[in-house]
Order: sequence, then structure tokens, then C-alpha cells
Amino acid sequence: MPPDKLPRSDVCSLSAVQDGQQLRVAGWIRSARISKNVIFVALSDGSTADTLQVVIVRNAGHWEELIPDLLTGASIEVIGALVATPSASQPFELAAQRLMVIGRAPATDYPLQKKEHSWEFLRNIAHLRLRSTTHGALMRLRSWLSGAIRHFFEQRNFIEIHTPIISSHDAEGAGALFEVRAPQRDAAHHHFFGAPAFLTVSGQLHAECAACALGRVYSFGPTFRAENSHTIRHLSEFWMVEPEMAWYTLDDNRRLAEELVANLAGQALEHQAKELHLLERHSAGLCAKIEGLTKLPYRVIEYSEAIKQLKQAQIAFEYPPRWGLDLQSEHEQWLVAHCSKGAPLFVVNYPQEIKPFYMRLNDDGITVAAMDLLLAEVGEIIGGSQREERLDYLLQRMQRDAMEQAAYQWYIELRKYGTVPHSGFGLGLDRLLLYLSGMHNVRDVVPFPRAPGQAVC
Ligand code: 4AD
Ligand code: MG
Repeated sequence: MPPDKLPRSDVCSLSAVQDGQQLRVAGWIRSARISKNVIFVALSDGSTADTLQVVIVRNAGHWEELIPDLLTGASIEVIGALVATPSASQPFELAAQRLMVIGRAPATDYPLQKKEHSWEFLRNIAHLRLRSTTHGALMRLRSWLSGAIRHFFEQRNFIEIHTPIISSHDAEGAGALFEVRAPQRDAAHHHFFGAPAFLTVSGQLHAECAACALGRVYSFGPTFRAENSHTIRHLSEFWMVEPEMAWYTLDDNRRLAEELVANLAGQALEHQAKELHLLERHSAGLCAKIEGLTKLPYRVIEYSEAIKQLKQAQIAFEYPPRWGLDLQSEHEQWLVAHCSKGAPLFVVNYPQEIKPFYMRLNDDGITVAAMDLLLAEVGEIIGGSQREERLDYLLQRMQRDAMEQAAYQWYIELRKYGTVPHSGFGLGLDRLLLYLSGMHNVRDVVPFPRAPGQAVC
């Protein structure tokens, strides 16, 4: 085959290529080292954390005019022969026969030079940071994780439901909704959908409809919250996987949640070792930390017991713990450290007042069948509950919360016609990835983070 008709090979698949085989690769220069007789170019095509070493022997004259453009960040295409290098750190290199610079990257202003940049600096060049070694690894890990989540549910006969992104209700009742509006050219367009519309905060209520028809379902997609939270754990747009299961009690729900997390952690160690070892450079002990997630069962503590222990701790918390108040991040961290020695911890049965209207009232009349899964450093990665399937209880609760029943008629009817006990939870993809990657800020595990004051690129 003429060299320029060769299909492009991915660097990630070169181990299957034979010694001496001619091939064509394309990517970006990570670094170039120019010596008297030889030029070494480290080429990254994004398919793997590995770079391919391209070796150019400077005996023939036509290379010389390329040298000024062989700079970090430039895009190049190379045709050459693969050479096995068993004694070197990489098993092979490419002996270049032809090299074309496709897009130059002037060293005077290309921001991503070959040196350590701060995470803050990289956040400001979101359009380029994916080319960095760490962000490349994060994106490959994120992509793999999304696939592994889908695989987990498919293997267990769950049906994926594409719940709507535009929604007319506040599923969490927290009032953190972004409004959706059509251009107001005429009055008829005022409410495009006939009622106020918002970006969804959770697919749960629609997933409940689906579970009450299809049995076991899950939704997986972006969700949006207009909270003015400037923390290392909060995004305005984040991805959530939300399984919802007919017939499941809170205990069944909790078991599924821990099985999911343990399974994903184990699979990551097995299938993403290269990316994890690379990320471990910024986070000592990362793999051991992930290994900790594979040990089942996870510890469980009742909310009331958690408050008791927090009070006994005699620590000057910024927010003094009190029954009836939500757990703050400082409380979560103390509980994980002391009640489960750093391992995952479920907190269950929270006071009704601090949880949304759809959670099932327990027999004590004051707590609901809720569960949160807490991890060291990251805090809450899962929130879920058994849902209130009893029509009269649901109506009472909605009345207490002064909710407009008419807007939730469809949700109420699920309890009127063939109601079933059911449960579900939401796992934040970004927070799980934060834990699995050992990064410190959730904005760094999302390709293009959305947070207060941050949506330009
Ligand atoms: O606890 P949350 O708000 O629960 C729900 O939305 C339920 N409707 C889920 C369900 O039962 N189907 O959110 C669930 C998870 C959290 O535990 C966290 O991992 C993630 O979603 N999450 C966020 N992640 C990043 N930024 C934010 N602002 C987040 N808010 C929640
Ligand atoms: Mg929650």
C-alpha cells in the first residue's frame, strides 16, 4: 500500500503491531529533543497515557527545515516503521520515514509547555488541558467509568430510561432550579411548555414512573443545580446515575448501592491500572484507597446514632451537631474516620424534616427511609431512599410541605393505580470519579466544568 494511503494507527493498539511493520500515526508533540544526529519526538494521540517515541535520523537534508516547528503542542503526522526496543522503557519506537507538521504551536504563546502547571492554571485553559497527561488520563477513566456503570445495570436486566432534561417540577424540593425559557417574541411564548419549565435536578420522579411499569430501570445523564456552592464537591451541572427498582426495600436498595460501588472499584483496578498508576503520582496510596471500596459489606449507622456519637466526640465543630439538622461535611468526615475507620459508611433513617417529600415515613413517625453513602474526603457520593408508596401518607406530606398538588397529579396517580413498594438512589458520577482519581476538586474531573462564575468554555 502507498504510505500515504495507510490507515492511521492508534498508539494504544501498537502492541499488536509487528516489528518492522510500516504504519502511520498522528497526534501532538509532547516534547522534542534535538541532538546532533538524532531527533526524538514524544508523540501523544490521546488514545493512551503512553507516548510513542518517534526517532528521526538527521542524515537526509529534508528534516532540517522541520526542526523549528518540532515544538510541544504542534500536531504532526508520521509514517515510519515500528522497531521493537525490548531493552528500553517503552517496548517499541517509530523510525520516521516521513513527518508532516500539520498545525504549528509557537513556543512563545502555547500555554501548555512541558512543565508542571497548577490545577488552577489548567482550569483556565479548559480547551487545551485535555492534552495534558493527567487530564487525558482523567477523561479516559471517566469514559470507561460511564461504560462500566451501564454494563453493571445491563448485566442485571435493568432498563435504561432517558428521563427528560426539561422538567416542570422540583424533584428535590430544594428550590435550586435553572429556569428554561423560549425567546419572548410574543406573549403566547411566555410559557413555551404551558407551565414554567426548568433544567432537571434529578430524573428520579420519572424513573419512578418507569420502575412502576418496567420493574428495574436506571437513568444516567446530566442534572443541574442552581446552588451558589463554591466548594470542591459541587458543580452546577453534574452527571448522575439513578437506578429505581419496584419491590425494593431500603435494605435491598443499600445492598445494590454497595454492590455497584464495590464492583466499579474492583473493575477500575483491573481494567484501568495504567491510568490509575499515572494518577497515583499526584495522590499517594490511590490504588490502596480504591481497594478499600471493594470490601463488602459497608458499615451502616442510623442518623440518630451518628448525632449521638458526634455530640460525644467533644469536638468544636463549626456547626454543632444536633438531631434534626443535616450533616455537614465536617460531620461526615468525622463519622467516616471514627465509625468505619476510613471505609465507606452508610447513614440511614434521617429526620423527615431535612429530606424531600417523596421519602417513605418510618414507623416511628419522625424519620424517613433514607440512605446516604459517605466516603473519606469526598463525602456523600450516593443519596437514596425507599419511596412513599402509600397515597394518604404522600398527600399528607405534600400538604405539610405546602406543595402544589395539581402540578404533581401524575406522580400522585402512581400511588392511586397499582402502587408498589419501590426504592432508588442517585450516584454522582463526578464525585465517584473524584474519589477514584485521587484529584482534589470535582472541577478537575469534568471536561468542561459548570460552576458559579464558570461556564465560558
Ligand atoms: O442526594 P441527591 O440530591 O439525591 C437525588 O437527587 C435523588 N433524587 C437521587 C435518587 O434517589 N434518585 O444527589 C445524589 C448524588 C449525591 O450523593 C452526589 O453524589 C451527587 O448526586 N450530587 C452532586 N454532585 C456534584 N455537584 C452537585 N452539586 C451535586 N449534588 C448532588
Ligand atoms: Mg443528598
